[in-house]
Amino acid sequence: MVPTSPSSSPVAAPADIVSLARDARTVVVLTGAGMSAESGVPTFRDAQTGLWARFDPMELATPEAWKRDRAFVWAWYVWRMGLVSGARPNAGHRALARWADAWHPHGRHVRIATQNVDDLHERAGSEVLAHVHGSLFAHRCERCDTPYEDPVVTPESPVERIEPPSCARCGAAVRPGVVWFGEMLPEGEFAAALDAATRADLVLVVGTSGIVHPFAGLPLAARDAGVPVVEVNPVDTELTHLIDYRWRAGAAVALPALVDAVLSAGVVGR
Ligand code: OAD
Repeated sequence: MVPTSPSSSPVAAPADIVSLARDARTVVVLTGAGMSAESGVPTFRDAQTGLWARFDPMELATPEAWKRDRAFVWAWYVWRMGLVSGARPNAGHRALARWADAWHPHGRHVRIATQNVDDLHERAGSEVLAHVHGSLFAHRCERCDTPYEDPVVTPESPVERIEPPSCARCGAAVRPGVVWFGEMLPEGEFAAALDAATRADLVLVVGTSGIVHPFAGLPLAARDAGVPVVEVNPVDTELTHLIDYRWRAGAAVALPALVDAVLSAGVVGR
């Protein structure tokens, strides 16, 4: 039987998934670009619009593109920063924050590890355990790694080239604090995500195509450790056939429905 939700959630969460979540002490949520889609941030593989429509993000997000034309790549990131700054956390981000807050005093945990370089989880009130692909807002020197904390101004309309600022310490160019294809992941972030996912009682994989490794390996490592894994995504992905439960829905609909159903049972837990 599908439990009814006490709130105005437009869908009911599947009973087997609610039951797993209610029985869990620690839930780990692995999020990708689809988590922020309903906030109006295009996913990585969506067609880009406007000025950037001609360019493939997979080619811009590389150390080679940066070395070839720093002003061009920096302008693309400045545009993405503007896009994210203008977006608001959606009901899915907010539901995860509400869930963690409700459970925390009872020694139960909701932990988030994300591939997203946006800050929408944090702005919804969540603490993020790991930003495995870095952050759009944590720039650093390309040579000496000194963080660059001055504000970066976003032009009113996108422009194709903006010279990146220079490092105050060594004068080299300041680069985006994101992980590019072919680069190492930030030290400790992947290890923290792997540790959490493999020790969880339940893993939710939300809004990722499961194409980019090593992040895509996290749900599989959890599954191999005996952790039930649920995929929340409107469509099938590379991961679908490898994991236990799938829920075909968008994050901003599914997560509030799940959290409502879980919290309606009370939070004291097992
Ligand atoms: P993708 O753009 O590859 O995939 C987005 C996923 O979100 C797809 O599976 C969509 O079906 C799903 N989706 C779309 N709308 C959704 C919604 N409303 N609710 C839930 N899911 C939805 O994004 P990622 O898998 O995050 O890496 O991409 C992984 C990495 O590829 C990015 O972190 C980035 C990129 O290359 C680097 O830059 C290193």
